Amino acid sequence: MLIRRPADLAPSEITPQEIYHQRRNFIRHAGSLALLGSATLTSGSALAAALNGIAPNKIPIEDKPTPRKDVISYNNYYEFGVEKEDPAHYAGTLKTRPWTVVVEGLCNKPRSFSIEELLKLAPLEERLYRMRCVEGWSMVIPWEGFPLSALLRAVQPQGSAKYVAFSTLADSKMMPGIKYPILQWPYTEGLRMDEAMHPLAILAVGLYGEELLPQNGAPIRLVVPWKYGFKSAKSIVRIRLQEAMPATAWAVANPKEYGFYSNVNPEVDHPRWSQATERRIGEFSKRKTLMFNGYADQVASLYTGMDLKKNF
Ligand code: MTE
Repeated sequence: MLIRRPADLAPSEITPQEIYHQRRNFIRHAGSLALLGSATLTSGSALAAALNGIAPNKIPIEDKPTPRKDVISYNNYYEFGVEKEDPAHYAGTLKTRPWTVVVEGLCNKPRSFSIEELLKLAPLEERLYRMRCVEGWSMVIPWEGFPLSALLRAVQPQGSAKYVAFSTLADSKMMPGIKYPILQWPYTEGLRMDEAMHPLAILAVGLYGEELLPQNGAPIRLVVPWKYGFKSAKSIVRIRLQEAMPATAWAVANPKEYGFYSNVNPEVDHPRWSQATERRIGEFSKRKTLMFNGYADQVASLYTGMDLKKNF
């Protein structure tokens, strides 16, 4: 697959100063509100043990963050077009307030959350994560977010809940891409319950210290750093706890090429190309792809005994 680089700054990259300050204030304000909030939703000792005692936001990562201009202009968001520069050009039509996320299914307290309520669930943290796209490129992104587990705990999952399904906005008025049946709309993704509860899985609301831009999945998106980027459902509106493995947009579109698990795995090639190396956006030479995207110490135990060639 070709790697296309935008020749110039997209107009949407040039943020007027006033909007820049509004976005920074959003992140700061949300963070301080959350810190006043519930301490009971922070990770317990079992989760801390899974990280070998390292706080998730302190996992050492030597890689340099990818320049912000690339993070916000080289995107996949097919609801706004299939070219990498399309989301930065066209996603400005996405209206992100008011915004509600419905959390339902096998839980004792199903309910809907406004984006403001979501921001109070747990302290916002900055997490510098490697992101690896199945197409062979990667980035390192300073996300702002909170653990997905905080939201799931708030609705009290039942024992029969084995999977978490995510659906994102599909609005033909705001999203020109959904008139084309490239994927099944709304875009859907899924995680196994233990993956969803893992402290590295976050719901991101910002990056580089600012509120997310529409092209990156505003106002709230999934980030699961040990899986290929397409797991990162953008602009989430519905989260469902369920017993059955959810159908996911890419697996529905092409089940031979995209599986449910989607773990970054240099030993399992995509049917049409190798996954052994990657090109970091902003760099020229390729680098080796790491098992579980470099997070093996933290997540490999989730897959003990599984054949990852079959469960790709
Ligand atoms: N979410 C929605 N709703 N629609 C999409 O087309 N693309 C996915 C994922 N989330 C997509 C989506 C893919 S293929 C990738 S690689 C990542 O978003 C890209 O995230 P980024 O543009 O912020 O790097």
